[in-house]
Amino acid sequence: IKRIGILTSGGDAPGMNAAIRAIVLTASVSNIDVIGFHHGFNGLLESDYQRLLPQHVAHIIHQGGTMLKSARCAQLHTAEGARQAATVLEELELDALIVIGGDGSFRGALAIANYYQGQIMGIPGTIDNDIDGTDFTIGFATAIDTALDTIDKIRDTAEAFERIFLIELMGRHSGYISLSAGIAAGAEQIICPEFGILQPHNIKALLAPIQRAQLMRGSSSYIIVVAENSYPAGTSALAEKISEALGIECRACILGHIQRGGSPVGADRILATKLGAFAVEQLLDGAHLMMAGEVHQKPVLYPLINTGEKKKQLDPYLVRWQQNIASD
Ligand code: F6P
Repeated sequence: IKRIGILTSGGDAPGMNAAIRAIVLTASVSNIDVIGFHHGFNGLLESDYQRLLPQHVAHIIHQGGTMLKSARCAQLHTAEGARQAATVLEELELDALIVIGGDGSFRGALAIANYYQGQIMGIPGTIDNDIDGTDFTIGFATAIDTALDTIDKIRDTAEAFERIFLIELMGRHSGYISLSAGIAAGAEQIICPEFGILQPHNIKALLAPIQRAQLMRGSSSYIIVVAENSYPAGTSALAEKISEALGIECRACILGHIQRGGSPVGADRILATKLGAFAVEQLLDGAHLMMAGEVHQKPVLYPLINTGEKKKQLDPYLVRWQQNIASD
């Protein structure tokens, strides 16, 4: 391998810069040239790239976002787009492509593989932690801490006003962020898509524990962490529904993109460094169509094709515990 291309795609995640840095430094030791495409697959389709030398990745390990910029790219999901991407890779004489992103980005990488002769490797970079084959994705640990910091603050004001708060966290269709941040914040209830999608007619199960808490402790704060896409009409509508049903003020707070930004925590910088380095080493060993992940602290390869097929399961121990205390 003489030359590899890299790109960051989909929702940015804290630690993507650390992964870019690790790839460039590891490649440099083996005299491999690295070029970075801008704006995800769009930069690949438009031949918009820069050469990445060790000096270009100095002092980026602590920065959130991605120095290469990110984007979603609908064009790549057409046969013509995938063919065009492969043509650019061949023209630039790239022996391999590393895609740092989530499962949508991996699907894009797999589409290119239909037309490209070189090697393809994925690195899981998404705050959602929804990719099977790795214990954690890059960005997840930081997103938890960011959410936690905000939930703790809302707890203060919820206590002062004796309100119920619904706090919506990201995760697309995964409850990983909500379960983890909710547990760490001591949320009274956690709602995730994995527990079944809520509908207006079945919110009763949600109301009973709130009423019990009111009776037991007198009125106090009550926090429900809600993963996005758990209630089809939206978290604000759910808050109104609870207010109506209980006659108690219930507010919704949608954290949104604050969860994607910020300086990566140590765990994300270390994971990103490990996976970036491992990805390059494994390409040198001939790996193709694999994702570089980490399981039980060991770097592992996982077939890229499997990442989208099986939904990553929530931690069953934490799920059981949370459901036990919420129904008590
Ligand atoms: O995949 C990361 C993520 O932040 C999800 O949690 C969320 O559903 C989605 O991206 C939001 O995407 P966008 O920034 O394009 O609205």
